[in-house]
Amino acid sequence: MLHRGRRLRSTRALREMIRETRLHPSQLIMPYFVQEGADVPEKTPIAAMPGQFRYALGGLVAAAAADAALGVASCLIFGIPEKKDAVGSGAYAGNGIVQKAVKTLKNKVPGLFVITDVCLCEYTDHGHCGLVDENGSVLNDPSLELLARAALSHAEAGADMVAPSDMMDGRIGVIRNALDENGFTSLPVMSYAAKYASAYYGPFREAAGSAPRFGDRKSYQMDPANRREALREIAADLEEGADIVMVKPAGPFLDIIREARDTFDASLAAYQVSGEYTLIKSAGELGRIDEDAAALESLIGIRRAGADLIVSYFTRDLLQKGLL
Ligand code: PBG
Ligand code: ZN
Repeated sequence: MLHRGRRLRSTRALREMIRETRLHPSQLIMPYFVQEGADVPEKTPIAAMPGQFRYALGGLVAAAAADAALGVASCLIFGIPEKKDAVGSGAYAGNGIVQKAVKTLKNKVPGLFVITDVCLCEYTDHGHCGLVDENGSVLNDPSLELLARAALSHAEAGADMVAPSDMMDGRIGVIRNALDENGFTSLPVMSYAAKYASAYYGPFREAAGSAPRFGDRKSYQMDPANRREALREIAADLEEGADIVMVKPAGPFLDIIREARDTFDASLAAYQVSGEYTLIKSAGELGRIDEDAAALESLIGIRRAGADLIVSYFTRDLLQKGLL
């Protein structure tokens, strides 16, 4: 018999009825950049990421409140400190910019779920995600304690979840321990488990001023050519106690997302990173692509590959435009 696949595509109602994958606002996480400093404007446009901003504390609260009213359910906070130093002190300062932002957000926008990015690169003067020795090598074990202090300081500020993005070996276990020993046994950890050394982070590093001053991140972030290695990274982070594991970037690594989904019974996140966002956004601004349709297609593709959650800079736009 002839397979008439078109029968089920003939009306909108039928197409929606048989739709296999859906996008729901509860699955999307909106990133925010918060900048420290007395004279910082409430919001500063990020040139490399059209439609995204660096917020001062007040601007962040206003944006987050407006976004929450639109239906944004959760956010991921990145800090841009006033001063950087060799040991990334701002990352674990009790009154650091992220710690202040979390306290303020949990107070002023209580319904919004607040996740914090745990890393050192925005806070170190060399721009690496860990401590660096005199030869410029990124040190693994000595960085762990600082990362744990950062995660704990976010927890103490009231974060709902912490998300380590540094890719040092063993950090999930050390962070989990630090949280548990200090009474945060119920605080979940979302690990950037399979994080690749990607050109798609370029716009983010401009936004956060976190590009490494020398060298690159290839000694800690993964080689984009590797698939099996991603599974080992994810397995290790789950063993160390990660509650949610992430694949990053998302679009160029859909096969990794699918493989992780098929291999592990864990909640899986994917990060549609700055470069993925900017490609679609910029082509849309030039009139070369239908931005909204392309954004939705990219996100449904990430969900179809197997991601439960997606960090995406399109979250606000799509809700604002009533597209979710
Ligand atoms: C910090 C961090 C980065 C991103 C998330 N956390 C940058 C990097 O690793 O260089 C990238 C996010 C994006 O590009 O949107 N370690
Ligand atoms: Zn980093």
